[in-house]
Formats: sequence, structure tokens, C-alpha cells
Amino acid sequence: MPQIIAVIDFGSQYTQVIARRIRECQVYSKIYHFTTPAAQLRADGVIGIILSGGPSSVFAKTAPLPDRGIFELGVPVLGICYGIQLFGHLLGGITAKSDHREYGHGTLTIKKPGRLFAGLPGKLRVWNSHGDKVSKLPPGFRAIGTTENSPFAAIEDLKRNFYGIQFHPEVFHTERGVEVIRNFLVGVCGAQQDWTMKDFIAHAVGQIRATVGRSRVILGLSGGVDSSVAAALIHRAIGRQLTCVFVDNGLLRQGERQAVADLYGKHFHIDLRVVDASKLFLRRLKGVTDPEAKRKIIGRTFVTVFEKSLQSIGHADYLAQGTLYPDVIESVAIGNNPAALIKSHHNVGGLPARMKLKLLEPLRELFKDEVRRVGAALGLPKEVVWRQPFPGPGLGVRVLGGVSGEKLEILRRADAILHDEMMKSGWYWKVWQSFCVFLPVKSVGVVGDERNYAYVIALRVVESIDAMTADWARLPPDLLQVISSRITNEVRGVSRVVLDISSKPPATIEWE
Ligand code: XMP
Repeated sequence: MPQIIAVIDFGSQYTQVIARRIRECQVYSKIYHFTTPAAQLRADGVIGIILSGGPSSVFAKTAPLPDRGIFELGVPVLGICYGIQLFGHLLGGITAKSDHREYGHGTLTIKKPGRLFAGLPGKLRVWNSHGDKVSKLPPGFRAIGTTENSPFAAIEDLKRNFYGIQFHPEVFHTERGVEVIRNFLVGVCGAQQDWTMKDFIAHAVGQIRATVGRSRVILGLSGGVDSSVAAALIHRAIGRQLTCVFVDNGLLRQGERQAVADLYGKHFHIDLRVVDASKLFLRRLKGVTDPEAKRKIIGRTFVTVFEKSLQSIGHADYLAQGTLYPDVIESVAIGNNPAALIKSHHNVGGLPARMKLKLLEPLRELFKDEVRRVGAALGLPKEVVWRQPFPGPGLGVRVLGGVSGEKLEILRRADAILHDEMMKSGWYWKVWQSFCVFLPVKSVGVVGDERNYAYVIALRVVESIDAMTADWARLPPDLLQVISSRITNEVRGVSRVVLDISSKPPATIEWE
């Protein structure tokens, strides 16, 4: 049994980020709902507790309050943001409403480094987001750090090992925040730092087995990173109880279907069913030009095909999905997280409830880079683990306007050349995405001595950190030249290649 750090969740949008930072320190943590009884934490043997932030005010009627018994367990407690306000409110100090909300960067001046700030400089740029603040220390506490607005921005009770900080150490904007967390975990709680990706996998495998029992699980494989890693992980847990379905929608890239069949069927020996529905998809897309309409048709057709394929598989109880934390963040209450609902995402929601399947989402608490590391540890090749994002509707949204077999084939061949050259030059791994777009416009070119009235292919190669913003990649002119001449020479039906130099925003990455 690993040592457990309990993260008590008061609804912060950053709760999972705290858990992630703890994993980064190679320590195991578990997120508990704020109502969890102290006896449960004792029974689980937690060695330290972190109280998360939260959107509420301690004064609100519906303020989430923990079992006060957690302060009697004899284990160290770190209160972050709302967590420090709870100290003030529940342990005999005063938490007061602030005159103004403090949001954004601030400077923390460390008065007494002690164990929490060991090894850190005297001043830190920190990230704040709070309305209330501690105005009178609870008995036993002393101030160890201040900000412009708060004499009690960081506090400690050395006897009980309680620490409170007003800022968020878990977010990227706080300088050296992970070190603050590590100091708490290692310096204060005495955590061992021996929790690795292998342990995560072993733990997840155990959980999947316990959840699923002898039931059958089905998973729709897309070939993308998330569903691939989910498949490999679940397969490791339950072997042939897992059946994967790969739908060939006719909108795939060149060689993709074969690559999926080889990797999962032949290499991993997963029970993989490949369903060729390309004709049905193309028939339903015929004459449809509006991008939103195309997306809807592709989505609905996928569900129909997937549902139908289940009939031949037989009864299953679980539908597995490669949902990641950023997919669910703030869109549903994770682990009963009362976080305010802010956005929803197209990957969440899954297949219709009428399928009456329970969801199995073993990657639900991980972030993308962690999922890649899990995939690598499970033996998935670099080409899968580090592949570029690809939209669910596939080439269907990259053929502009109406989709046809002929246009898809032209795009597929051009795209394969781009992919080949990006791989050969190593640029594939340096950019966020690189792909071709089919423009339904004909212009005149010359092949040999002949006039060639043919289509245009646009190259879209972007750099991005998170897909929210993106800039076109400055590929070397010689590389662009090779790509362009190969496409116009090798792909019949293309007379011209253009380069997209739009940024996002105002443009988007995909054209549609
Ligand atoms: P845009 O074009 O909105 O794309 O800038 C942002 C990122 O999302 C990907 N994308 C999708 N991914 N299903 C997905 O799983 C989709 O329907 C979808 N549409 C766009 C796109 O490739 C880029 O990485």
C-alpha cells in the first residue's frame, strides 16, 4: 500500500492540478470529497492532508466545510487559498471579507522559511485568487510570509504541523510552486517519493479489475493517443474481456486502418473488430457542404455503426473511453467535485445513454503528458504516443465543401507525402500539427506540355502549446519546395500547392 496524501476537494478548478503536482513529486495522492469523515482518512492511513481551494466563501450559507476531526488526526495539514481561510474560520482565528478581490500575480515575502519554504528565495512571484482572507491568526499559528495585501499570506503552526498559504502553489504562474508542495510532502509529511508511472499502471490495473469483475468491456478505438492508451491499459488489466471496435469511416489517413490492425491485433493481441463503414459514411455525406452538418452526420453515423457492431460482439456491461482530465474539467462534477460548470467539450458525453452501458474511464484524472508517459510505459510506440492531434471527423472536415471518394483520395495522397517529408526531416515532432487541406477550387497548371486544370492543396503546419492559440510554423524553404513539388508531381488532380500563414486566432487550426 503506498503512502497516501489526501487532497480534500472544496470545488477548486485546480484540485486535479494539485494531484498532478503531487504525482510529479512521485508521491501518491487521493482526492476526497469535502464531506469525507476523518475516520475514513484515518482508516486509509493518510500521512498528510491538503485542503484545496474553492470558489466558495467560508461565510456562504452553503460553504463546504470539512469534518473538524481531520484537525485531530495528528497528521500535517496544508491549507491552500480556501484551505487557509478554513483555518482562520474553524480553528479560532478570524477570516474576514476582503475589501477587494485579489486576483493574479502578487509577491510573497518570506519572513521565516522554515520547512515549507526551505531552499526558496526571500521573495516569490505567486498567483492569487481569493476574496476573503485571514485577519486574525488562530491560536498556535504565526505568520511566515506576507503579501502587499495580507500580513498572513502564509502561516504555520509548528506544533501541529499545520500550514496555510493564501496563494496557489499548484498553478504554473506561481514561481517554484512545486517546490513548496514538495517541501510539504517530503519535508513535513516525510513522504518517500517512490510513486512512479509503473505504480500508477499497477494501481489502475487493480482498480479496473475490481470494477469490471468478469464483465465484458468494449472500447471504440480511434487510433488517437487517448483511446490507444486506454485500450493498452485496460487490456493489461483484463485481457480478452476487452473488445475494441475500430470504425473505418472512409475519412482516415493513408495506411491508418492497417496500422491500427497491426498494432492492436497483431502486436498486442487485443480482440479488435475492424468495421468498414466507409460506403455508408460517404453516402450520408453526399451533397453536404456545411461543416457543422458534416460533423453532425459523421458523429451520428459513428454511433449507428458502433451500436450495430455491438450486436455481433454480444453482451457487454462497460463502455471504455479515453477521457482525460482536461476533457472533463469543469464540465462535470468529478469525484463529486462541486466546481462550477464552466465549459463542455465535444469528447465528453460519449455514446447515448440508451446503450445502457456503464462508463469505464481509467485516464480520467490524468493530463495529456501523463497519458503519453503511461502509453510509453505500456509499450506503445513513439508514433502513437507522440502523434499529432487529429480531429474526430477526420479528413471529412479537411475536404472543404462537399466530400467525395475522389477528393478524399487526392487529399489522402497529398497528406501522406507531407507526413512522409515531415517525418524524414524530423519536423513532424517539432510542430503541433501538420496536414493538408483540399480546396475545391481548380486552377491551371502544366504537366509536361499539357495544360492541367486541377485542384489546390493547402499546407497547414502550426506550432502551438495548447491548441488555444497557434502560429504557422516557419518550415525551411527547401523542405517546402520538396513537399510542393512531390505533391504536384505525384498526385494526379493537383496543380497547385499553397501555404497557410494564418494564426489562431483569428483563424482556427482546422479549416472546415
Ligand atoms: P481548431 O480548428 O478549433 O482545432 O483550432 C483545435 C484542435 O482540435 C482538433 N479538433 C478536433 N479534435 N475532435 C477532436 O478530437 C474534433 O472533432 C476536432 N475538431 C478539431 C484540431 O485538430 C486541433 O488540434
